[in-house]
Amino acid sequence: MIRGMEALDVAGRRVFVRIDVNVPLDGSAIRDDTRVRAVVPTLARLRARGARVIAASHLGRPRGRVRPELGLAPVAARLSQLLDAPVALAPDSAGPAAAAAVRALREGETLLLENLRFHAGEERNHPTHAAALASLADCYVNDAFGSAHRAHASTVGVPALLPAAAGPLLLAELQALARATRAPARPYVALLGGAKTSDKIGVLRRLAAQVDALLLGGGIANTFLAAAGTSMGRSLVEPGQAAVAAAVRAAAAASGCRILLPSDAVTARTPAPDAASAVVSIDAVPDDSMVLDVGPATTRAYAALLARAGTVVWNGPLGMYEHAPFAQGTLGAARALAASDAFVVVAGGDALAAVQAAGVANRMDHLSTGGGATLEFLEGRELPGIAALPAA
Ligand code: 3PG
Repeated sequence: MIRGMEALDVAGRRVFVRIDVNVPLDGSAIRDDTRVRAVVPTLARLRARGARVIAASHLGRPRGRVRPELGLAPVAARLSQLLDAPVALAPDSAGPAAAAAVRALREGETLLLENLRFHAGEERNHPTHAAALASLADCYVNDAFGSAHRAHASTVGVPALLPAAAGPLLLAELQALARATRAPARPYVALLGGAKTSDKIGVLRRLAAQVDALLLGGGIANTFLAAAGTSMGRSLVEPGQAAVAAAVRAAAAASGCRILLPSDAVTARTPAPDAASAVVSIDAVPDDSMVLDVGPATTRAYAALLARAGTVVWNGPLGMYEHAPFAQGTLGAARALAASDAFVVVAGGDALAAVQAAGVANRMDHLSTGGGATLEFLEGRELPGIAALPAA
């Protein structure tokens, strides 16, 4: 067990809180504020305990340069609305400007530092930079599960220098993911979709050795089908992944896991929302067409398995769900999970967007705020940001 932030004496003290508000932006508008909402209870709790809250996050990948379009002003404004209290934005995350902003901070007030990744020392976990960040505060809380797979100054360097603890969001993520993976209620089913197999090799192999059934959709399923000799027309098939598919099949065979692939598909000549579409058997994909969703028979077969599952982990859409004609497989999976008694973990932006679009987000047991971090956890890898925190 990791030490939680209740163990820290925060009253009147400066608390560096690593949050992950790496949100999608349209100009200066936040497209999805889920990650901002998720940390509000943490910040509110620290404020209520009289902490001087110094929140810090990255946004995007500015790679050590100041990129104004990746500034955190929109997040400061949104946090301020959600906390119903002013949240000032420090002009920098380290150095004299950050220190001056921290000095102005009173008990119960919240400051947001500017994008951590405007400094090259953040991603390198440079010791001088970590010390500069740590000098701003008296203690440290990590509530950024989404960044826990990164060994950066703000996730690994600072907790080595200050009394450190985990925030409630991070602990809730660990608890839910541990429940799903360590002693899962069976049948344990993984539903994996999305475009690229190569992004998920580790997760596919690990889950194939653990789960009772692996249900595949999207580009991953296309790649597995093509590797088995099915003609996929002009579908998205990732080249060079046949060996991965074979290794995953071998891991599944060794552990008694069933791999399920689509038996039918929705196809069209182009991935446009108004393209004429057709439902075909998976062994009859026309040469001039591409698979854009799983078909109705597959949706029913997957739904039946999900309905009987004890535990489900879902990452990645089953088709091009952004367009209504190709969304039925993904939405069908979301509805099946809502109706299932299984302990359901939904991870990754697309699967989260799908459960929201289906209106069933509140019926899932855990909506993970992590992208890469959740996948690395499912792969069984140690997350450096977690390893950097002390035991309870
Ligand atoms: C994420 O969105 O997965 C996290 O915020 C990590 O972002 P990164 O992949 O740029 O490190």
